[in-house]
Amino acid sequence: MTTNSTTQSEPWTILRLLQWTTEHLKKTGSSSPRLDAEVLLAHARGCDRIQLYTAFSEEPDEPVKAKFRELVKRRATGEPVAYLVGKKEFYSLPFQVSKDCLIPRSETEHVVIECLDRAKTILARDPSKIFKIVDVCTGSGCIAISIAKHLPQCSIKAIDLSPAAIAIANANVAQHQLSEQIAVVESDLLSSIADSSVDFVVSNPPYVSESEFLQLEKSVREHEPRMALVSGATGTEIIERLASQAADKLVENGWLICELSPMIADQVESHLNGTSQWSSVSIVKDLARLKRIAVAQRNAKSS
Ligand SMILES: C[S@@+](CC[C@H](N)C(=O)[O-])C[C@H]1O[C@@H](n2cnc3c(N)ncnc32)[C@H](O)[C@@H]1O
Repeated sequence: MTTNSTTQSEPWTILRLLQWTTEHLKKTGSSSPRLDAEVLLAHARGCDRIQLYTAFSEEPDEPVKAKFRELVKRRATGEPVAYLVGKKEFYSLPFQVSKDCLIPRSETEHVVIECLDRAKTILARDPSKIFKIVDVCTGSGCIAISIAKHLPQCSIKAIDLSPAAIAIANANVAQHQLSEQIAVVESDLLSSIADSSVDFVVSNPPYVSESEFLQLEKSVREHEPRMALVSGATGTEIIERLASQAADKLVENGWLICELSPMIADQVESHLNGTSQWSSVSIVKDLARLKRIAVAQRNAKSS
């Protein structure tokens, strides 16, 4: 927002700030420059994005413009908008986020949908059922919280290995007033879960291979936590370890519902079909028709 001699006298109205910033962010590589500009200006102004539309001709005061300038400068270097404003919507619910947790993605909503669909089918047969659910690799807690909000008949353990992510998940659980339904636990996958009567293990684990990590967008690679993304040399390491642990913890006919990338979907499907522990193995596609979620049902446990 530098001024030159011809534009110096024009006021920096909301409309002009948005137009200038949209062009600037387009040049610096944002794929959603107008949306970014609006979200950042609404944040600087402390209003909803929609309120900008009825205030196009207003000029924000200097502290708001200074705050906006600083946010735009950081966005132009690739910092994600969600980290700049400290929040992100998921499954139509608001979540606090920070650089300590992954920014929730819309494709992860399929994990929630697959779990709720199956739980509702079971409830239709057995209305008194109370589900035990474990959300492994919970990050912000977005999966656990979205499920708990729509399924009062459940108790959830939300697990993460990162103490910093655990703090964010706890803040979100408190914000959504779900402390009675969700316990946030620090653990390496399911190693701290003694219970072997879990109905659903849901997860969006790290599933990016080390080589794929180098190809990720700069804003993801440089700003989101590496431990939330990278699994190992192949990308399947954590999912395979999780599937083996989940087989021990699930009840007979319990479900494993796990996000993955299209790159490893066939491999994970073969892995699950290759053991006698799972049946009804399927891969669900996301809205972009990409293979995105592995679903598998626990077979009867041999005694
Ligand atoms: C892809 S993020 C998912 C976060 C959140 N569930 C979501 O969908 O936005 C993966 C999370 O797994 C956690 N994590 C990585 N390795 C883990 C492990 N061995 N045990 C438990 N959590 C782990 C990371 O700290 C990160 O929060």
